[in-house]
Amino acid sequence: MKKIVLVGTGMVGMSFAYASLNQNLCDELVLIDINKERAIGEAMDLNHGLAFSNSSMKIYSGEYTHCSNADIVVICAGAPQKSGEKRPELLKKNTEVFKSIVAPVCESGFKGIFLVATNPVDVMTRVTAKISGFPKSRVFGTGTTLDSARLRYLLGDYFGINPRSVHAYVMGEHGDTEFVPWSQALLSTKLVDDVLEDNPNTFKKRDIERIEAEVRNSAYKIIDAKGATYYGIGMAIVQICRAILQNENSVLTVSCCLNGCYNQEKIYAGTPAIINQSGVKSLIELSLTDTEMKKLQESCDALEDYFKSIKL
Ligand code: LAC
Repeated sequence: MKKIVLVGTGMVGMSFAYASLNQNLCDELVLIDINKERAIGEAMDLNHGLAFSNSSMKIYSGEYTHCSNADIVVICAGAPQKSGEKRPELLKKNTEVFKSIVAPVCESGFKGIFLVATNPVDVMTRVTAKISGFPKSRVFGTGTTLDSARLRYLLGDYFGINPRSVHAYVMGEHGDTEFVPWSQALLSTKLVDDVLEDNPNTFKKRDIERIEAEVRNSAYKIIDAKGATYYGIGMAIVQICRAILQNENSVLTVSCCLNGCYNQEKIYAGTPAIINQSGVKSLIELSLTDTEMKKLQESCDALEDYFKSIKL
């Protein structure tokens, strides 16, 4: 029996829940929110759609005690990013929110995997790891999985190929210091750089640089346009949960402890990792250029400063 507990039934959490139902992700989905009435209403609303889906998912509003036998606890609770706001500005208030969530989850006897989506997600993931004391493999965040999906979509659109044939990642902070290790970016099995070199009249390096900037700034544009982002991140959480529940060994750029990779020990940042039923099975340490290593170091330095600022 595959069971997920969702903490936080705001737009991100419920986009995840709605996508979970439509993709028949698990057998049981428990909704927890500080606004209990909201969680009850969201569960009712989803249940009324069951007849239209091929799912028999059991969905209900619950308590932290329901985490005891859950496979995954997904945390989406916290203040969302507003127009003109940067993700790190949410840190202090969301850290206080997490103190009221992680402890009762652990007190339930939960022995599964924490998956964090709340921003600033890299630091919130490290906060979850610190409060829970769980093994590093069982606490990770959505990281740059959404950013990598945005990159693959935009590169696929530019080069005219299906995003599923674009093998490129965004690394580092899920935020302003994220970057693309272009030395590792492939269209099918050909380096993007080689495609540019072989087609100088068709494809331009400046267009690729524009795409990287567009990925980095996507959330700001969406938030300015519609007030928040939620569908993309909701579906990213489904993908990560499926990799866990189906023991997929999928490579996703989740936010996990770098644990010695890239000369980093304690930092949680987006990096290609193999995800399966045990959580983070292992990291795939890419051979980055000196320039790329410098970008990653800058991102890690920023994340370390954010974590130190909350004095946890
Ligand atoms: C975004 C949010 C999830 O990038 O940070 O859309």
